[in-house]
Amino acid sequence: MALNSTPAWRALVAHTAPPLPHLRELFGADPQRFDRFSASFDGWLLDYSKQRVNSETMSLLAALWQAADVHGWISRMNSGAAINPTEARAVGHTWLRAPLPRPEVSAVLAQMRNFCVAVHSGEWRGATGERITDVVNIGIGGSDLGPRMVTQALNAYAIADIDVHYVANLDASDLGQKLQRLRPESTLFVVCSKTFTTQETMQNADSARAWLVGALGEFAVAKHFVAVSTNLEAVAKFGIDPNNAFAFWDWVGGRYSLWSAVGLSTALAIGYVHFEKLLAGAAAMDEHFFSAPVGQNLPALLGLLQVWNTSFLGAPTQAILPYSQSLELLPRHLQQLEMESNGKRVDREGNELQTPACPVIWGEPGTNGQHAFYQLIHQGGRLIPCDFIAIKQPDYDLPGHHAKLLSNCFAQSEALMRGKTLAEAQAELGAGADPVLAANKVFPGNQPSTTLLMPAITPYTVGQLVALYEHKVFVAGCLWDINSFDQWGVEYGKQLAARLLPVIEGKTENAQLDSSTAGLIKASRV
Ligand code: F6P
Repeated sequence: MALNSTPAWRALVAHTAPPLPHLRELFGADPQRFDRFSASFDGWLLDYSKQRVNSETMSLLAALWQAADVHGWISRMNSGAAINPTEARAVGHTWLRAPLPRPEVSAVLAQMRNFCVAVHSGEWRGATGERITDVVNIGIGGSDLGPRMVTQALNAYAIADIDVHYVANLDASDLGQKLQRLRPESTLFVVCSKTFTTQETMQNADSARAWLVGALGEFAVAKHFVAVSTNLEAVAKFGIDPNNAFAFWDWVGGRYSLWSAVGLSTALAIGYVHFEKLLAGAAAMDEHFFSAPVGQNLPALLGLLQVWNTSFLGAPTQAILPYSQSLELLPRHLQQLEMESNGKRVDREGNELQTPACPVIWGEPGTNGQHAFYQLIHQGGRLIPCDFIAIKQPDYDLPGHHAKLLSNCFAQSEALMRGKTLAEAQAELGAGADPVLAANKVFPGNQPSTTLLMPAITPYTVGQLVALYEHKVFVAGCLWDINSFDQWGVEYGKQLAARLLPVIEGKTENAQLDSSTAGLIKASRV
């Protein structure tokens, strides 16, 4: 039976009418609301009391968890079953961070450790004998976003004397801007691609190789290029020494791959010891997810609440708002993690979904977002659930910043929850207030949010954070009954681009084009 025909799903639909009272009233009626609707784990707090839920909502969501057999799917994933059937693949990213990894994983981790030590100690040098001062990770999607985000998040742990850069875009300005400031003698390129066929990565790798060879000669490639891939044959064809290739496996999805050798650039940035702590943090979150009861299980709660807001309350988007500059790139990483995983139109049986699944994920760090788009969240008239992420212990502790940062974060979720009535706005303005101005100062409130309070930004907690969202996506995918591990939606555009390239290059005229595409190609000729 399709999940949305189950009694559990139908009970949740029935529960939406009539809607729950305004959040302000729910807080007024229950002084214990925070205690009732918050959970903690290993120094983390998840406060979901500002979500539009009551105890019945949470029981009904727990029943949906049962109906969706989330525990069964966890067991199938952990046993190595091909739970990604459209690619006939198992889903094993948690095996990469297991406390006792499989032999093939241990071997690559050892290779990564040795390589990091060699680069950091200066034992590994460029072809002319210079130390490596700059690492350029060339990759896109999962071979870029996760490692880039973690490297930025852990900047406080960065190894001195080595700068790590990330290049992803096919636009030459991405690589070109970086190369402008680099010296070939001291630059190491890490070409990172699961398939080693991705157009953007191959083009950037070719251009980087030409730049290096142009300056130092062909012999230099061996000391300035390493690769991370599941396709070691293609790596060898590209001309990278097989000794400088780091393997991973088809059971690691691109957007779940930062724990594999795809994390090599991160390990070069922060040191292998810190990379190991990242893995340990993720493993701790895995253990929590696999064992904690639903009501105390952080990823389970985040997944259930996302499905509640999206499928039952009708919210088409979700904002990710980290109050941490170090987590600046988290929304971008989660865009791929969530939308490439759950932005699907059919269920596991291939039946069309009745309503869209994954919401549009977007966001920016607070407080910057407050001066940009929060206006719309407060008064734009749309339902926008928000994840606020706050940090107890700042990673850069300049006097005067952190208390102000936290006060802004907590004030925003309070304002979104509480709102401001017309009577309150009039009272603030005083007697004889301009009614137009008063109307502009009304905030409807009742905007749902969750606040995640992290203990600190460390390799361990960042590992926990990323794993937390990975499992949240898994839960939501189970509740929507979709395969979260394929990504066929990215293929069609690639196919069409391959067809257009020879037309744009003037190698062929293609009469089959629609008038817009043909017109654009014509107009783009210089
Ligand atoms: O086009 C989407 C995608 O396949 C992602 O899933 C993946 O992370 C990215 O491309 C990069 O792929 P690769 O690592 O094979 O270069």
